[in-house]
Amino acid sequence: MTGSRGRFITFEGGEGAGKSTQVARLVARLKAHGIEAVATREPGGSPRAEALRAFILSGRAKPLGPVGEAVLFSAARADHVDVLIRPAIARGAWVVCDRFSDSTRAYQGAAGAADPALIEALQRVAIADMDPDMTILMDIAPEIGLARAEQRRGADGADRFEGEGIAFHRALRRAFLDIAGRARKRIVVVDASMEADALEAQIWSRVSERFAADLRKQAS
Ligand code: TYD
Repeated sequence: MTGSRGRFITFEGGEGAGKSTQVARLVARLKAHGIEAVATREPGGSPRAEALRAFILSGRAKPLGPVGEAVLFSAARADHVDVLIRPAIARGAWVVCDRFSDSTRAYQGAAGAADPALIEALQRVAIADMDPDMTILMDIAPEIGLARAEQRRGADGADRFEGEGIAFHRALRRAFLDIAGRARKRIVVVDASMEADALEAQIWSRVSERFAADLRKQAS
């Protein structure tokens, strides 16, 4: 797709929703359509952002409170956008990102109680013009998601946010659904309790519907 801008798709949701599996599957589908597709994640996606990821998820930033953590997530995001996302989109690649700015809105904003106006101001600085074209919200009951996350990590202990209580994770789910309700054009909600193959098919049908014109152009 030389000469035209790529697309930016993000996945959001609580713990154990299965985002990373679906990110990988969507990237494979896009590649099968001849699209250069890049999978990435947050916090992380660039060397400096990965260093911040290790610091935040170890829990060492927790004493800073939700505002301090939001600042660190945003610093990581700004670097990720500059180093990976913006250049990829500019060359025509599609970027599929596991978590992005809605995670800060939900985790540090609604569930963590940092001032929403401050969160929005941080997002403007961190992402500038790189708003996602489409976001898939993988919605799941926190009891199911946390049990999956626990199974996945085996003997390792819970990380910074998995370790929060059930009330936090319930508030988080409500926060994500509320964000989706206010951004219906951008955010599609899917039922993440579904089995992975069925979910993959549903996500692909939503993505291919939304970007039908781009996919047709690519095929011609
Ligand atoms: P990760 O292991 O990637 O979690 P998951 O597999 O659930 O996506 O860890 C990222 C954690 O950081 C996750 O608990 C969500 C949290 N987070 C925030 O609190 N704010 C943010 O802005 C981002 C990007 C992530």
